[in-house]
Amino acid sequence: MFVTFEGVEGAGKSTQIALAESWLRSLGHTVLTTRQPGGCGLGLTLRAILLDARNTHLDSTAELFLYLADRAQHVAEVIRPALAQGAVVLCDRYHDSTVAYQGFGRGLDVERLISLGEMATGGLAPDVTVVLDLPVEQGLARARSRNSGAGASQSEGRFEALEMAFHQRVRDGFLTLAAREPHRFAVADATGDPQAVFSRVQRAIGQRL
Ligand code: TYD
Repeated sequence: MFVTFEGVEGAGKSTQIALAESWLRSLGHTVLTTRQPGGCGLGLTLRAILLDARNTHLDSTAELFLYLADRAQHVAEVIRPALAQGAVVLCDRYHDSTVAYQGFGRGLDVERLISLGEMATGGLAPDVTVVLDLPVEQGLARARSRNSGAGASQSEGRFEALEMAFHQRVRDGFLTLAAREPHRFAVADATGDPQAVFSRVQRAIGQRL
């Protein structure tokens, strides 16, 4: 089973993925937790470029193809082999992030991005996509305190630095995608304490196990 987690900055994906991983292991599943960008060797190089706050000159189309290159390699090298061995794969972001950030956020053509996604993934769609949804102000406040705490404001801050309206379009983008494919998506309210959010996530995944 292939599960992806999506959401705006600071939605709490990492915490929820860690909780989901231990829960699924306790049920006896083999679990692989991974992420985009950066879930394979090539991806780590691409991630460093994509998240570097100094790369202000990156063209939107160039950025798009870097995310797609990361995805194509990661699907081929990591995700498909793990699924073939029967693992549950938990992936922190996938193609819906490209549609939300590069499409709804940056303004690239959404339908075209959807077909590029099919090409990059060879048609591999998630069985479940959990969207952790919360107001962008709350998410950005969480992301900022995390980045300053980790000293990551230079290397991981390129997206956090964008204006509020951009993040609002991204949030609306995820909700639009979820409404288009209600069978694949589960929108979970990501406000409140991590355990309360996790019970919503657990329900979404549990229904599809
Ligand atoms: P991530 O490492 O998940 O950061 P965060 O923990 O802040 O959510 O994602 C890195 C950034 O890359 C994030 O700002 C979203 C952005 N992104 C895109 O713009 N397009 C994509 O296709 C992906 C996968 C991520």
